[in-house]
Amino acid sequence: MLSSLVFLVGALVIASQVFRFLEFLWFYLLKPSSVQKYLHGPAPYAIVTGASDGIGKAVAHELFAKGFNLIIHGRNEDKVRKVVDELKTRRSGDVRYFIADAAKGGHDFTQLIKPFADLNVTLVVQNVGGAYMAKERIDDSSDTALVELVAWNDFFPLLLTRALLPKLRTTAQHGPVLVQFVGSHAATAAPPTLSVYAATKGFLAVLTRGLDNDERRWGTPSGVEFEYLAVASVATAGNPQNVTMSAPSAEQFGRALVNKAGCGKRYYTPWMAHAIMVWAVGLLPEGVVDGFVAQMMRKQHEERQKKA
Ligand SMILES: NC(=O)c1ccc[n+]([C@@H]2O[C@H](COP(=O)([O-])OP(=O)(O)OC[C@H]3O[C@@H](n4cnc5c(N)ncnc54)[C@H](OP(=O)(O)O)[C@@H]3O)[C@@H](O)[C@H]2O)c1
Repeated sequence: MLSSLVFLVGALVIASQVFRFLEFLWFYLLKPSSVQKYLHGPAPYAIVTGASDGIGKAVAHELFAKGFNLIIHGRNEDKVRKVVDELKTRRSGDVRYFIADAAKGGHDFTQLIKPFADLNVTLVVQNVGGAYMAKERIDDSSDTALVELVAWNDFFPLLLTRALLPKLRTTAQHGPVLVQFVGSHAATAAPPTLSVYAATKGFLAVLTRGLDNDERRWGTPSGVEFEYLAVASVATAGNPQNVTMSAPSAEQFGRALVNKAGCGKRYYTPWMAHAIMVWAVGLLPEGVVDGFVAQMMRKQHEERQKKA
């Protein structure tokens, strides 16, 4: 009797691991992209924040190539206009933009998006964000630096989403609408000197689930969906390093991000090598992971100091 029970439990554990592995292969290697489902209605638009460089710029290029019109955001008008011009040489879609420093408070979000009020926005990529790579703990940071870090990563995407939501719900009556928050694996690893940045991304992860529940389970489902993207290293201006399998270029990562949009998961890692790393790290005790991450941060700070 006991041996049959042990056998049954063993078989169930193995079957669930095999299922997880097959699901992993399906998700990263075989599943067709679902992003086309957001190309509905008259002239569909995607909004991409922080799109003058890095991941946001790569995502904007990828979405434009897929047929979306664009509303891109940045803080430096010359740089944003350069991206608009680059995009317009690719094909004849519409590209608009707005300028706002996400780290500064006091924006009137209703006014910011007013010029786009009549457009058919079906996809929003809340990408703007980042960290100040300083060798500091919170008591070495100024109040202003900490408040700006939270505004940049949390308040800006939160308040922009709030301002967009009523119109997104109307659009969702005719087809699905997606809001994505670009997060970070820092939210789970919480590296030293990046504790507040990590916490801001943790906020976005919880916000994603809550907003998705608001739209699906509070009243009639609105059709507006939310996704949190857990991102590890990507070689960009914000994270300058060599391109490797585990640190793709912004273009490689942007392609993966767009291909996975609307994949049906609420929280996922768009880049396969990042997912493998996270799985492997998950097998280790927390103390070992914390020690390893602290060592990595020390090395990164040393390298930055040498380059400075
Ligand atoms: N790269 C990574 O390894 C990595 C890892 C995990 C998560 N992420 C997340 O991915 C997102 C994009 O990162 P990235 O590496 O592509 O960054 P990036 O190369 O530094 O580019 C960020 C974009 O945001 C804009 N931006 C920066 N600060 C801004 C502000 N205060 N107001 C308005 N716009 C601002 C930049 O404008 P300018 O062109 O004017 O600088 C640029 O267009 C962020 O949310 C980041 O937290 C990145």
